[in-house]
Parts: sequence; structure tokens; C-alpha cells
Amino acid sequence: MCGIVGYVGKRDALDIVVDALRRMEYRGYDSAGVAILDGQGSLAVEKKAGRLENLDKQIAEVGRDSLAGSTGMGHTRWATHGQPTDRNAHPHVSTDHKIAVVHNGIIENYAPLRTELEDAGVEFSSDTDTETAVHLMEREYTVGEHAGDFVAAAYATLRRLEGAFTLVFTHADHPDTIVAARRSTPLVVGVGDGEMFVASDVTAFIEHTRDAVELGQDEVVVITADGYTVTDFDGVVTGGKPFHIDWDLAAAEKGGYDYFMLKEIAEQPAALSDTLLGHLQDGRIVLDEQRLSDQDLRDVDKVFVVACGTAYHAGMIAKYAIEHWTRLPVEVELASEFRYRDPVLDRSTLVVAISQSGETADTLEAVRHAKDQKARVLAICNTNGAQIPRESDAVLYTHAGPEIGVASTKCFLAQIAAAYMVGLALAQAVGTKYQDEVVREFEALEQIPQAVEKVLEQMEPVRDLARQFASSDTVLFLGRHVGYPVALEGALKLKELAYIHAEGFAAGELKHGPIALIEDGLPVIIVMPSPTGRALLHSKMVSNIREIQARGATTIVIAEPDDDAAAAVADHLIPIPATPTLLQPLVSTVPLQVFAATVAQSRGYDVDKPRNLAKSVTVE
Ligand code: G6P
Repeated sequence: MCGIVGYVGKRDALDIVVDALRRMEYRGYDSAGVAILDGQGSLAVEKKAGRLENLDKQIAEVGRDSLAGSTGMGHTRWATHGQPTDRNAHPHVSTDHKIAVVHNGIIENYAPLRTELEDAGVEFSSDTDTETAVHLMEREYTVGEHAGDFVAAAYATLRRLEGAFTLVFTHADHPDTIVAARRSTPLVVGVGDGEMFVASDVTAFIEHTRDAVELGQDEVVVITADGYTVTDFDGVVTGGKPFHIDWDLAAAEKGGYDYFMLKEIAEQPAALSDTLLGHLQDGRIVLDEQRLSDQDLRDVDKVFVVACGTAYHAGMIAKYAIEHWTRLPVEVELASEFRYRDPVLDRSTLVVAISQSGETADTLEAVRHAKDQKARVLAICNTNGAQIPRESDAVLYTHAGPEIGVASTKCFLAQIAAAYMVGLALAQAVGTKYQDEVVREFEALEQIPQAVEKVLEQMEPVRDLARQFASSDTVLFLGRHVGYPVALEGALKLKELAYIHAEGFAAGELKHGPIALIEDGLPVIIVMPSPTGRALLHSKMVSNIREIQARGATTIVIAEPDDDAAAAVADHLIPIPATPTLLQPLVSTVPLQVFAATVAQSRGYDVDKPRNLAKSVTVE
């Protein structure tokens, strides 16, 4: 997501900050900005939508002299609240133009805070959640209990914020000090010789120092040119964990992983929690943008999901949940097919368009076709301000952060979570679920990031298996119910990354044809339904596995740890934590991603850039 840097030292802050932003470009961004303190009580801010070159140009126009100083901070923004425009770019400044703040994350309680501040007469100049932080800080510093005390005012501000955030504060009258805090989003400290840094990741300062300090959850760091103090939000000293960076720059950009995709697989717990964050308010599911009335949602009598590639599989999974929760019929359609077959659409049809990029041409054309037919369109998208959300009547953003690996991973899980929230929002609108049931389902979703974390901790045996089967010509994947689209996704990952013939099947369909493919030693990966959820599905799957085992297949079974029946038919077992049936895809997909990536690596392929593929396909 966003890239943040702060610098206090003796050198020219502007150069250091802009260089750091350039090094963090790989994180993805849509606007950039800097704030520099001149040391005499003034603050200069420049910010601009678009690439860093736009900011460079603006700095050249105003003249570098106006940005002289040895304390500063910078930000590359990946829009969450508010479009990627100049006014929404960071840093945001206080009304008296003394305090500047940059932020990564989501301030969940920004709406009530904004109302409180506006009632007190504050005028906002952006649509961001971030701006609430700077105005709160100004109030704490000017009239709060700790008036005049920059650091104490920052603590007081932080204590009022909910959500996930990294925040960096500067005050023009305290040019020797920067205060930075983290809750659930990244922040590291760089310890230089007579200079200190704070940043989203070490790439920002690795050319200046390799000594760093890791901050824990809910910690604050106060830096000056000569040192740092780490505390909690009450100012109690906690310490911080010093470490030495021994990665080279290229590895640092990838968080120490060999490929962005591997980093993105590891980021899935955060992608899921960030996507869920803030969407349950007073027992109700809220979307990010809704240009539809509640009545429009109540009138929905049919849902279409349109998407491409991995997003299409997320839609297939969501169908099971949306139909189950809303009792509305849901059709899932490849966006490239949708408008060519004259689907039956009218104003009571809701078309849910799922797209990571928000720019996929097939999905965009499907959205336009749906709108021509007067259907309502709801977008699930990872890119704020992209074309698909702009043309939709309602939007729910996945907050997975930029996905750089061409093959989608963390966005897939985030899309499933978002589509489930759409299902719950519809269920509450059409009245098929009571409020407490919606809350319960949401709370079950909130448990999943932890379960994914657990899966990620147990991936070494999966990598071993992948190496063992890396020279296979064909791998088949089987699933049932929500496990069926997971099988399709597992096969797609293997095809696109490792260029191996891979196919996913609904296990029950096997006997109608695909079983003819089974031969001695053929690896078949099976996504086992939970034995406790849909027991019938489970026993049918055991029979399906026996059928292929009898014909010589080598079975690799993904199952819950206590599933003895699955263990009995598994040549290789991949355990995953027990989850409610509908939520299982969020954990069972992870080993399949790791399997495909490892096979591809073993075969010597670049998993970030598979041949013939593009991250965002903007032609039909
Ligand atoms: C490309 C990517 C896939 C992605 C699909 C849809 O084919 O390689 O990983 O799932 O596009 O992209 P979207 O941005 O619409 O989700």
C-alpha cells in the first residue's frame, strides 16, 4: 500500500525523502507528496496526483529553495478513502499550516471524528480519513490537555483513533522531532549516524543505514537526529527491537522474498483483515460507496457476478454464500461471455463486477452492458478510482494493497471476503438474515486471517511435495461445493505459473468423463470438504478419492487435521485448520498457491511474470 518516509538529520531532507519515495515506487501508488520543515517555524508542502515525475515537476516549478530544510517526510498514496487527486494526496496539514501528517491504513472511526471536528468549526480540504488525524492533532496541541507539547499531543491524538494506521507527524515549531506510530500497518526505524529515519519498509533508507528498529503493534517512535524512543500510545517506554539488514536492495523491495508473488501470498492475512476492517458498523454491513437507495437493494431479485480469471473463481465461490444467505438466485458469468449472449437483466438485477485492477476490458464492457439494460452494478475492486468502480452504482474496495505478481493471490482472498460482505449486505437489505446473524457471519470471517496465518506457517511440507511433483506433465484438482472453484483456481495457478497441464473438476463429475484421464502415478490434488460441516459432501468425496486411487492416482489431500477418513485415502496429506464450510476456500487456496509457485520455481520460471500473461488486460 502507501509508502511512508520521515527524516531528521543534517542533510537536505528533500533529496533524501524524494529518493526514498522513488525506492518505494514498487509498492504501487497513485499520488505522491512531501513536507519539509525549514527549522524556523515554517512548513512547505508539495503534493501531486500521478507518478513521482509529476511531483518532481511541481517541485522544480516552485523551486527547490522553498523546500530547504533538514527535517521532512514523504508519502506515496494508494487511495482508499477518496479518489486519487491532488487534494487527497498526502501530506495533509492543519488549519494553521504548522502540523503535517502522512498516513497508511484506514482510520475506521473517521466518520464520527470528522462530524465532531466539523461541528467544532473545522473545514476539511480533502475527502480522506487521514485529514481527521491532523485536525485532531491541531486541537490537542492548541487547546488540549497537553497544549504546546508536540509529543504528548500526538499520544492523545493516537489514543482517539481506531482502525489500522501508520501515522507520521511533524510540527513546524518542533523541527528537531518526528513522531510516528503504528497499529497493524508497517513502520520501521532506520538508525543513522547523526540522522534518523522512519519508513514503511527498509528500502527507503537502506542506502543510508543498515541498522534498523522494528516496532511492535500499537507502538510510537519519537525520533531526533541523535536517537529514538519507542513507547506505547500512553508514552510508556517499550524499547523496540533493533536488527541489522543484510538483504540487498532488490530483496528488500520484496520484503526478503525471491518474488513479489511469494510476498503477496504471505501478506494474505493482512489483506483479509484490511478488507474486512470498518465494514461492520452498529451491527450493519456498510459498503464504501453507495449511489443506490436502500430500496434499490431491497428490490434486487437476481444477482449476476461477472469477472475474469481468478476474480471469476472468487465469484463462483461467492455464489454459494450469497444464495445461501439471501435466497436470491445468483449466476456467475465470465465477463467476456456475458454481453454476447443477451442475459436477462432489468432494474431489479444486481450485477456484481469483481476486478482487482478495475480496468479489465471484458469486465468493464460487461458493466456497461448491464447498465444499458438498467441493471444495478456493484463493483468489488482493489484500485480506488479505477474505471469499473467509477461506472458502478456501489463499490466495495478490497484493501489488499498493490498486487505486483501477475498471477492474483492476495486479491483473490480479499475478493472472496468482499463478495461475502456483499452477500451479507444484501441479506440484511432483503431481510433474510437477522442483524445478529449478520454479525455472527462477519465475526466468523474476522477469524480467518488467523487461520490463514496458521496455514502459512505450515507450508514447508507443501514445498517439498511441489518439488517432488515438479516434473509431472499433468496434475488434476478435485473439489466439491465451494471446494470446486478452489480446485479450478489451483489448476489455473499451476497452468499460468508452471506451464503444466492442469485441470480442476467437480469431484462428482469425474465418473462422467475425466476419470478416463487417471493413470498410474498421476498426481491428483483434492480439496476435502469439512467432515463436520456438510457431512454428506464429505463421505461422497471419500468415495470419489477411492475411485481414483483404485485406478492408480497419487492422492494429495487437503483436509482438516482430525479428518481420519481423509487421511486414510491420502498418499500425501496437507492439513488446514477447521473452518465453517463456506469459509474453507479462504484457507484451502493457500497451499495450492504455494504448490504452484514452488513447482514454477523448481522448473526455473519467473513466478512474477509468467509468459504470455499481463497483470491487467485492457483489451477484449
Ligand atoms: C489477468 C490476470 C489474472 C486476473 C485477471 C482479471 O488475466 O493475469 O490474475 O485474475 O486478469 O483481472 P482483474 O484485474 O479484472 O481482477
